[in-house]
Amino acid sequence: IKIKTLLAQDPESYREQEVTVMGWVRTFRNNQFIALNDGSTNTNLQVVAELGKFDESLLKRITTSASLKVTGAIVPSLGKGQTMELKAASIEILGDSDAEVYPLQPKKHSLEFLREKAHLRFRTNTFASVFRIRHALAFAVHKFFNDKGFVYLHTPIITASDAEGAGEMFRVTTLPFEDTPKNEDGSINFKEDFFGRSTNLTVSGQLEGELGATAFGEIYTFGPTFRAENSNTARHLAEFWMIEPEMAFYDLEDNANLAEEFIKYIIRYVLENNREDLDFLASRLAEEEKQLPQDKRSEMGLIEKLEFVINNEFQRLTYTEAIDILANSNHNKKKKFQYPITGWGMDLQSEHERYLVEKHFKKPVILTDYPAGIKSFYMRLNEDGKTVAAMDILAPGIGEIVGGSQREERLDVLLEKMKAMHIPMEEMWWYVDTRRFGTVPHAGFGLGFERMIQFVTGMSNIRDVIAFPRTPKSAEF
Ligand code: 4AD
Ligand code: MG
Repeated sequence: IKIKTLLAQDPESYREQEVTVMGWVRTFRNNQFIALNDGSTNTNLQVVAELGKFDESLLKRITTSASLKVTGAIVPSLGKGQTMELKAASIEILGDSDAEVYPLQPKKHSLEFLREKAHLRFRTNTFASVFRIRHALAFAVHKFFNDKGFVYLHTPIITASDAEGAGEMFRVTTLPFEDTPKNEDGSINFKEDFFGRSTNLTVSGQLEGELGATAFGEIYTFGPTFRAENSNTARHLAEFWMIEPEMAFYDLEDNANLAEEFIKYIIRYVLENNREDLDFLASRLAEEEKQLPQDKRSEMGLIEKLEFVINNEFQRLTYTEAIDILANSNHNKKKKFQYPITGWGMDLQSEHERYLVEKHFKKPVILTDYPAGIKSFYMRLNEDGKTVAAMDILAPGIGEIVGGSQREERLDVLLEKMKAMHIPMEEMWWYVDTRRFGTVPHAGFGLGFERMIQFVTGMSNIRDVIAFPRTPKSAEF
């Protein structure tokens, strides 16, 4: 039978069975012991090539990262580190790997180094664990919404509108660099372009999601989104994945309840199903933290932190309350914020968000009811006439992981807002139609998938939780 090295975690069940395993060599010791890995787990399978049984010419080719097909019996192991091992009857080299030029050594490499070898980094334990957890989280996302009866709606990647109105879009065009067709006034003539108009990569599937929610009731999207923000930080990507549920008949509180339940659900899912990988990353993180001065270390280990989050209620407070806390904090009085708190109406910087979650509440925070002026056009205006029914969820160590709101369902209020914020009607008429034909209260949010993975895996740089990161001045592959 063919087995995965994952099954070798319970090798007892294969005792004395004849098996075939295929994978890559991690290490080869004493011309005899091969640590074989097929990517299903970080626990290597020990393969024993009995001395004298195999040709020296074959043994020479068993180098780190060579691929092998091994057949033999699973037998009790006398060595330390495993109870059972595979006693090789035959070893076939599927692909050689020249140890002189193979870039990864069987030792610990820095994440920076591995980012430069991104095409091979899945072959390290750290990245293997991160991407197995990423997979599990994606599966848990679909399971959560499917079990609740939400419809998975595929919103377009190429769009003609700017959902966030922030102008951070990548333009899609087939127009030639030279001789770009121009209008009489010198502007680009997009009528000559593929779609006959100007188009962009989507920054969010929300607006199309609202079309779905006002027909199916509850939908979610889960796909790539693109932002041409020129921010070179450990939390920003130019291409990232977002999960955006959108629900009819939900107000802001229903929205916050769903978001909290959802986040706890997917964390619980990996705690229950990916324990080996989480434990590995937890100990990796603990090692890393030992290098830090005492006061910079986290109070909780990774697993402890995740368990704390799923077992405690998120802190909910309004923007106005948050400004109050921040303004009166010693941190502000001692001028420790790079951006001092100037008063109600200012946008919060990530240092303020992190102060709230990490220093003040020490748990995830749901911040609601922001000033209308610093939020998007589609958010519902509150009774006070100056705040909107917005919510951001802030996570310790990460900052904002969710942005959402109750949407403006009143046609007249929406139209007024769009006019004031210069949202072009010719791009948005279809959106406004939802408010014309059976409008309903509705709400939704967007979870940044990579930021969520950072939170769950403890990886400090967002480039290390997406397989092929795209950031300013960098797009390999
Ligand atoms: O807060 P944002 O911009 O909200 C929206 O796009 C709404 N349309 C969502 C909705 O209500 N349906 O983005 C949502 C989340 C952020 O909280 C953050 O986690 C993530 O997307 N995000 C990014 N992640 C990585 N790199 C970037 N450049 C990101 N920009 C936003
Ligand atoms: Mg946001």
